[in-house]
Amino acid sequence: MDFDREYREALALVEEELQGCFLDHMDGPHRELLEAMRYSLLAGGKRVRPILALKFCEALCGEMEPALDYACGIEMLHTYSLIHDDLPCMDDDGLRRGKPTCHVKYGEWLALLAGDALQSAAFERLAASRRTTPVANGKACAVLARAAGQNGMCAGQYLDIKWEGREPPDGYGLSQIDGWKTGALLEAACLLGLTASPVEPSPRQWEAAERYASHLGIAFQIRDDMLDVESTEEELGKPIGSDAENGKNTYAAEYGLDGCRELVEQLTEQAKRSVREAFERPEFLCGLADWLAERKH
Ligand code: IPE
Ligand code: IPE
Ligand code: MG
Ligand code: MG
Ligand code: MG
Repeated sequence: MDFDREYREALALVEEELQGCFLDHMDGPHRELLEAMRYSLLAGGKRVRPILALKFCEALCGEMEPALDYACGIEMLHTYSLIHDDLPCMDDDGLRRGKPTCHVKYGEWLALLAGDALQSAAFERLAASRRTTPVANGKACAVLARAAGQNGMCAGQYLDIKWEGREPPDGYGLSQIDGWKTGALLEAACLLGLTASPVEPSPRQWEAAERYASHLGIAFQIRDDMLDVESTEEELGKPIGSDAENGKNTYAAEYGLDGCRELVEQLTEQAKRSVREAFERPEFLCGLADWLAERKH
């Protein structure tokens, strides 16, 4: 398997599809809102979540295309979460994907609305997909809603900010915060891929995808915390030292960079084991886990 080639192929599929988004009403009076949505959505990014959706679908049925709308939807939802995460009332960051953040470029109220509208557009894209059945689309909406909402990403963002500058109470530690704020959407990405596949996953495969995502999700956020300490603004495309400045509870603060490296390694191995046990074609998913563990941005 040639990981780089497969990643580039999946990335190109996603980028092409995203390029076409929100162009329909560009001559309308709300053009600026659509531009703000496209500004953040098309600013680049690794596209990890859509690629997970495409590749879990492929691991099951041999094709990525059935999952293409779900892939776009989850990237829209993720982009909304980033726009809101950067707002002055949250992490107050000025740089994202190598460009000024949405609120720096367009102002706070417009950034807020661009995020809101991206969230709605995400569900519309899932619900209306013609690459999948109406029943699958309903399931996909439920998967994404559960991951994004009050017992998922929003809960994680709540805890992340609520406990800034102090220790979270027992039972609400880092794995809980990160599992919710980051793991939940990564898990949804994997499950959306399985939902899109015309070949139904077995319960064993569904559970393996959940296990892969839960290990990958924590490893992903640990790596993100490490990069906030050890990377550069140019390489990362977002500000360095933002977590320390905001008094965040991070793995980097708790375990140090060496401790983090060890944890990422262990979690990555566990993630790989989970998919190897249940899928006939786990190579790309294992390669992706390795690549994310070593990523520089
Ligand atoms: C950043 O996500 C936010 C976290 C959940 C850590 P990504 O690292 O996937 O950001 P992009 O999409 O590549 O910009
Ligand atoms: C953000 O975590 C997670 C979500 C957007 C849900 P971070 O606050 O660590 O992400 P970055 O570092 O700003 O990308
Ligand atoms: Mg944050
Ligand atoms: Mg942030
Ligand atoms: Mg971060």
